[in-house]
Amino acid sequence: MAVPASAVPIDWAAVKGDFPVLERTVNGHRLVFLDSAASSQKPRAVLAAMDDLYEHHYANIHRGVYRLAEEATAAYEASRAKAARLIGASDPREVVFTRNTTEAINLVAYSWARQNLQPGDAVVTTLLEHHANIVPWHMLAAERGVEVRWIPLTPDGHLDLRNLDRLLDGAKLLTVAQVSNVLGTITDLPPLAEAAHAAGALLLVDAAQSVPHMGVDVGAIGCDFLAYSAHKMCGPTGVGVLWARGELLDAMPPFLGGGEMIADVRLDGFTPNEVPHKFEAGTMPIAEAIGLGAAVDYLDTLGFEAIREHDRPQGPGRRSGRQGPRLGPAVGRRARRRRQLRTRRHPRPRREPGPRRARGVRAGGPPLRQAPHAGAGGCGHGAGVVLHLQRRGRRRRAGGCAGCGPEVFRPPVKGDRRRREDG
Ligand SMILES: Cc1ncc(COP(=O)(O)O)c(C=O)c1O
Repeated sequence: MAVPASAVPIDWAAVKGDFPVLERTVNGHRLVFLDSAASSQKPRAVLAAMDDLYEHHYANIHRGVYRLAEEATAAYEASRAKAARLIGASDPREVVFTRNTTEAINLVAYSWARQNLQPGDAVVTTLLEHHANIVPWHMLAAERGVEVRWIPLTPDGHLDLRNLDRLLDGAKLLTVAQVSNVLGTITDLPPLAEAAHAAGALLLVDAAQSVPHMGVDVGAIGCDFLAYSAHKMCGPTGVGVLWARGELLDAMPPFLGGGEMIADVRLDGFTPNEVPHKFEAGTMPIAEAIGLGAAVDYLDTLGFEAIREHDRPQGPGRRSGRQGPRLGPAVGRRARRRRQLRTRRHPRPRREPGPRRARGVRAGGPPLRQAPHAGAGGCGHGAGVVLHLQRRGRRRRAGGCAGCGPEVFRPPVKGDRRRREDG
C-alpha cells in the first residue's frame, strides 16, 4: 500500500491490505483477527525487511570483518536505534534486545534485583499484572526473602492508590503494566514514578500492551526500566526490548554468559563487554531485531494518534470523551447491575442451536481475583479475546495464552473436533 502521511486520514481498508494473512478465508468468511493483544499479525513491510536480510545481507553480527557481516551489523544496530526512538529514548545503548517482555522483566529480576535487594526489602506490584510481571518476583521472594506487595484495584478496574505511600515504604522496586492485558486499564505512570522515587524505589514499566497502541516516552514517564515485545506490535516473535537508564545497565552484572557479552575471556575469568552487548549473549535474533525496526517504521507511518483514534470504541456503544483503548469487560457494581438487568430482560437460552458459523467472541477471562496468589486476573489478551467458534452446535476453543495459565481456559467441550479451517 502507499503509506499515508500521518496528516492525511488513514485509509484503514488499505492498511488491512498490508497484512497478507487477512486475505485468508476461514469457514468461507474473510479472516477477522481479534487476538492481537496475544500476538499481532505482521505487515508485508516487516516480512520484506527480514527476507531482504536473508536474501542479500545475512551474516552473524559484531564478529566478522567482511561486507555481509558489516551490513548485517549495521542493520541490527539501526534497529536498536529505532527501538529506542519508539519509546523516546535518546541513547540506543540503553536498549538491550531480549527475547520478549518476559525475558526483559526476568533480566531486571536476575541482574538488578539480585544485586540490589536484601531479605526484608519489598517489590511492589499490582493486581493488574500479567504473569510475566508476577512470577519473577515470586521467584525472587522465595530465593531472597524479599516481600512482594500488591496494589489493589478500585471497583472500576483502576489502581487503588490510597495506601500507596504505605505500600512503598521500604520498597526497592515498583513494577506496573502501563496498559493491563487483564482489563485494558491505562495507568497514569508519571505520578507513580514520582511516588516510587520519593520512597527510594525504582519504577519498572511493563509496556507490552501499551507500545502497540500509544506513544510511549520513557522520559515523560520518568521510569527506570521499561520492557516490550516486538510480536505484539506487528513485529516478529523472538525479540523484545529492555530499556534501562544507562547508569543502571552499567552497574548491573551480565544475565547470561557467552558470545558477544564478553570484552575479554581468560583462563582465570572474563571482562564483560560494554552495554548493551554485555546483556546480549550468544547469537542474537538478528533478522527478528531487523523486523522489529521495520515494525517501528510501519507504526510510525500510521502514527500513534491515528492508531489511538482507531482503537476507540466505534458505533452506537461509543461514548464521547472516553479514552481508548477500552478493551476488557466492564467491572464494578454498576456494570454488574447492568448485566443482571440485561440478563433478566433477555434470559439466555440454555443451549444455542446449531448450525452456526464462527459465533461469539468472549472478551476477558474469568472474574478478576483479588487474591494475589491466584494470579492477578484472567487473560485479557485481545484483550482477553478467547474465540469460541460455535459450529454446528459444537463449541470450540480457538484462543490461547501461555502467559495466563490453565485456569483461564475452560476445557474444550466434549465432542470438540479439529477441522480444517480454510474456506
Ligand atoms: C501486559 C503483558 N505483559 C507481559 C506479557 C508477556 O509478553 P511476552 O509473552 O511477549 O513475553 C504480556 C503478554 O501477553 C502482556 O500482555
